Amino acid sequence: MRVVFMGPPGAGKGTQAALLAAELGVPHISTGDIFRANVAEGTALGKEAQRYMDAGEYVPDTVTNAMVRDRLTHDDCRPGFLLDGYPRTVEQVAELDAMLRSAGHALDVVVELTVEIDEVVGRLVKRAAEQGRTDDSEDVIRRRLEVYAEQTAPLLTTYSDRGLLVQVDGMGGVEDVTSRLLAVVVVD
Ligand code: AP5
Ligand code: MG
Repeated sequence: MRVVFMGPPGAGKGTQAALLAAELGVPHISTGDIFRANVAEGTALGKEAQRYMDAGEYVPDTVTNAMVRDRLTHDDCRPGFLLDGYPRTVEQVAELDAMLRSAGHALDVVVELTVEIDEVVGRLVKRAAEQGRTDDSEDVIRRRLEVYAEQTAPLLTTYSDRGLLVQVDGMGGVEDVTSRLLAVVVVD
């Protein structure tokens, strides 16, 4: 099963992707989580990524694409993967297409979690108070939402045109959203 999760910051991608990936028996690959782990470890990749993340901007495609390309070659991706937060740009879609094509694979489904704007802002502000993620300040949240609208939301049309897009209502409690997801993403 090869799944992509899309949706604005705070939509619940990470929360739901972790549950669904466990259900499907595939790795949950979050580019944001990989970048944050590199920042925490002080690697060269982390140092490069941090200034973009802290500003709410996307890390350059060349950096992000190379990181995902490497990750998808790991053995655990053989049965599939659940990508959370990738692809987010036109160039990343093209890169993922190329990676899949060369491996003789294809995506099964692209899930969009839809959540009202007030709700996502509320979730991220709450998380800022609880966890202090450096990009959860009000200004940066606003910028992340703008960047999503400008660069990533248009990709939904691309996947919809390919017949891959499934929209799932991300409002309500975590368990309600999980039930909706399980109902649309076929589990063998
Ligand atoms: P990334 O880490 O992917 O952040 P994001 O897309 O902004 O989204 P979040 O992780 O904040 O939200 P989420 O949708 O995962 O929701 P979550 O489950 O956490 O990216 C961070 C940065 O990395 C980017 O800005 C960019 O700089 C860089 N980056 C990453 N990928 C990149 C790429 N492909 N290209 C270039 N740059 C890239 O939930 C949010 C909160 O709400 C949590 O506190 C959660 O507990 C809570 N919550 C979840 N579900 C519910 C619910 N149903 N009800 C109430 N609360 C809920
Ligand atoms: Mg996330």
